[in-house]
Amino acid sequence: MKIAVLPGDGIGPEIVTEAVAVLNALGESFELEQAPVGGAGYEAAGHPLPEATLKLAKEADAILFGAVGDWKYDTLARELRPEQAILGLRKHLQLFANFRPAILYKELADASSLKPEIVAGLDILIIRELNGDIYFGQPKGFRQAPDGPFEGSREGFDTMRYTVPEVVRIAHVAFQAAAKRGKRLCSVDKANVLETSQLWRDTMIEVAKDYPDVELSHMYVDNAAMQLVKAPKNFDVVVTGNMFGDILSDEAAMLTGSIGMLPSASLDAKNKGLYEPSHGSAPDIAGKGVANPLATILSAAMMLRYTLGKPEQADRIEAAVKKVLAQGLRTPDIWQEGATKVGTREMGAAVVAAL
Ligand code: IPM
Ligand code: MG
Repeated sequence: MKIAVLPGDGIGPEIVTEAVAVLNALGESFELEQAPVGGAGYEAAGHPLPEATLKLAKEADAILFGAVGDWKYDTLARELRPEQAILGLRKHLQLFANFRPAILYKELADASSLKPEIVAGLDILIIRELNGDIYFGQPKGFRQAPDGPFEGSREGFDTMRYTVPEVVRIAHVAFQAAAKRGKRLCSVDKANVLETSQLWRDTMIEVAKDYPDVELSHMYVDNAAMQLVKAPKNFDVVVTGNMFGDILSDEAAMLTGSIGMLPSASLDAKNKGLYEPSHGSAPDIAGKGVANPLATILSAAMMLRYTLGKPEQADRIEAAVKKVLAQGLRTPDIWQEGATKVGTREMGAAVVAAL
């Protein structure tokens, strides 16, 4: 099995190195091939998603992705910015189903900014549609406002849109995931205002007929943002569109107090996937050897479970991570009084040792 390794920018290379070391320690015969992406792609080939990188990603069975982005590229034209690499991979590979679990490890219970009784034992899964919505909807651009009180003024515009089949396919993914967990699915939309959301809601209700064991509920996105901090444990699986999912998944991640711990998976219809930490490239700490590699290591575990068909190896990695946490090892982002502060390399090496 071939794994495309795309470290990207900022802390990406450091954390991916540790995840690769963990994969290599499993005793499997994976073929790993590396390619530049994001700002690194721009430096190497003049484009955030170079042709050769896209080709490798298409050929590979799975993709291990670090992070992209750095302030120094903020002045580039939008199509050359690092973010276009991840958006391009999602679109070209039709990775439409984004799994973002938010789990509070009991060893890190104090890390959340919320009271322990509100978050202790938190285990929710956000499923975000990744190929449609206002992110990709055409037309978009800049123009002179064609009407309204500011007619003639410079205007930016984007288009929010979803077709029924796009919602149907993410709905099936979400219902199936919920069926394997707590059997509760909350669909988040803004159906009181948006037609896109009304279609989303109607379609969820339609697909729900195939899953009588799963309880479907609906919530407006503003209320969902509120409920996530008020009573997050009331959620099991949340399914939502691309834009709302971007925002709510950051909020859900922060409930755990340790975004450096959270993996994610972006899957296509055949469970081929791109696996990346939920956090970004953190250019402020890049190269300092202090980034937490655990989210990337746990992303490699998700890869073994969802795409490579090796759930027992995924279990091994997750157990090894729990073990190093129990040993009291902490990178600075999750460090607390009394724990042993370690850097990226030491944390990765500890996971390998625990394996
Ligand atoms: C994410 C990120 C991306 C997104 C950016 C980097 C384009 O915020 O994966 O959540 O908005 O989807
Ligand atoms: Mg985001």
